[in-house]
This record gives sequence, structure tokens and C-alpha cells, in this order.
Amino acid sequence: MTIDRLRAHWGLTRMPFAKDLAPSMLHTHRSHAEAVARIGWCIDERVVGVVTGEVGAGKTVAVRAALGGVDASRHTVIYLGDPTVGVRGLYSTIVTTLGGTPRFHRSSLIPQAADALATEEHERGRRVVVVLDEAHLLDAEQLEGIRLLTNADMDSHAPFACLLVGQPTLRRRIRLGAFAALDQRIALRYSMTGMDAPETADYVAHHLKLAGRTDTLFSDDALGLIHQVSRGIPRAVNNLAVQSLVAAFAQSKAIVDESSARAAVTEVTAE
Ligand SMILES: Nc1ncnc2c1ncn2[C@@H]1O[C@H](COP(=O)(O)OP(=O)(O)OP(=O)(O)O)[C@@H](O)[C@H]1O
Ligand SMILES: [Mg+2]
Repeated sequence: MTIDRLRAHWGLTRMPFAKDLAPSMLHTHRSHAEAVARIGWCIDERVVGVVTGEVGAGKTVAVRAALGGVDASRHTVIYLGDPTVGVRGLYSTIVTTLGGTPRFHRSSLIPQAADALATEEHERGRRVVVVLDEAHLLDAEQLEGIRLLTNADMDSHAPFACLLVGQPTLRRRIRLGAFAALDQRIALRYSMTGMDAPETADYVAHHLKLAGRTDTLFSDDALGLIHQVSRGIPRAVNNLAVQSLVAAFAQSKAIVDESSARAAVTEVTAE
């Protein structure tokens, strides 16, 4: 079975539930909208914010949506998507993104990063937004490094906005670890939850519409099952919905009914 035949069967102009969504194509369920609004607030207020949510909850999508809404001429975004680069990688990314060449010795790299952040703000008049994605993977040294940078300025206003984005363990890690100083600087904590049942149904319809189908393709009980199994987590909904389309296609059905969705659940949960 090819993707093309699947698309043709369902009369879709593109594969639905794809990852490559333009900002204008996003679904604005409550958790997404609230995360975007709060991230925007963190950026405006130059504070440290922590956004958590389970795998596939839409954290990275929300961060990108919020960053897409800021004035690019007045903001500089430093995005670290892979924290497994150590504390040196963290500081180097900051220096490099701000146009510098990282110094070799750690002892001079730290003040270099702090200086680069201050210069961007005070001399270039740009607000810096540091985003640390997959932040539950940050090691103790990196968390301490972040605290050092947020402390760099002794005056009341923070030198930059910092967003720590990661799985739910991140909150516990910061709270339980020896990071009280960082914990105290966190001005916002938001935990993204799954969509509720009507949102999940609307989300599925939204993705199908983007792929060219506006009529009903999924029966109500198929949607109910997908919601129940995915708990409204967007990536899980995507996977189940695609497998449901495959299962119904394999049986030459014109609609995704509950038995197709059940086949998809078996398929996806067996992986
Ligand atoms: N608001 C949304 N509108 C449309 N699709 C969405 C939305 N939020 C999430 N998705 C879909 O869910 C997928 C997972 O979202 P995302 O990558 O943001 O999750 P995550 O929480 O960052 O997961 P991970 O913990 O694995 O990094 C996206 O690729 C996208 O297809
Ligand atoms: Mg992510």
C-alpha cells in the first residue's frame, strides 16, 4: 500500500496529521492557546518560565507558535533543542547565536556569554529569549549555569527571558534538586494537558480539513475511542488517526468506524 493510494482513497490533497505545520495551520485548543499566551507573557516580562507536558503534548509546537508571534526585529531567539551538549554547549550556543566566537576556557566562556547577553539587550536594543527544549535532560551543571546567567545582572530587571520546556519530570527535578535559587526565579509554571473529547474531535476534523476533507470521515464512536486511548495528546491522536485511515482503507470502507479505530489501537499500542 502506498501513501498515494491511501490519499487517493480518502480524496485527500496531502497526508493529514503531518508534523510540518505552518503557524497559521495550528489547532487552537485550550492547552495550546494557554501555553502560547503564557510563553508570550514570559517573553514580555523577561522572566524564567517552565512549560511541561508529557511526550507529544504539543510543547514544541506551542513554543514555536509563541516565538512566531514576536517582533523579529526586536527579539533574538536562542533555541537549544538538544541539551545533551553539556554546560559548555549551552554557553557556546548563546555566544555563537549572538555572533561571537566561544572562548576556550570555561572560566572565560561564562562571562563572555553574560556579556554577549547584556550587549544584545543594552547596545542593540534587542530582547533575548533563551529556549531550552527537552529541558528534563539538562544536567545539574547546566541548570546551575542557567541560574548564573539569570543572576548576571544585579539590578531588578532580568537580562533575558528564559523558557525551560520539557517532560513532567522537569518540575520535580528543579524542585527536588539543589536548585532552590533557580526555583525561586521561576515566575511561571504551566503544565500542558491533553485535549478534552470535543477538542480531540475538532482537532481531527481540523487536520482533515487542512488535507482537503471537510465532511465527516470518522464516526463518533471511532473518535471516542481515539480520544480515550490518546487521552487527547496531539501526537498520539495523530498516530491513531492515521492508522485508523489505513485500517479503514484496507477494508475499502468509506468511513472510519469504531472497528477501524480499534484495529488502529492494536496497531499503535503493539509497537
Ligand atoms: N496546536 C496544534 N495544532 C496542530 N497540531 C499540533 C498542535 N500541537 C501539537 N500538534 C501535533 O502534535 C505533534 C507533537 O507536538 P510537539 O512536537 O509540540 O510535542 P512535544 O510536547 O514537544 O513532544 P516531545 O515531548 O516529544 O518533544 C506535532 O508534531 C503536531 O503534529
Ligand atoms: Mg518537543
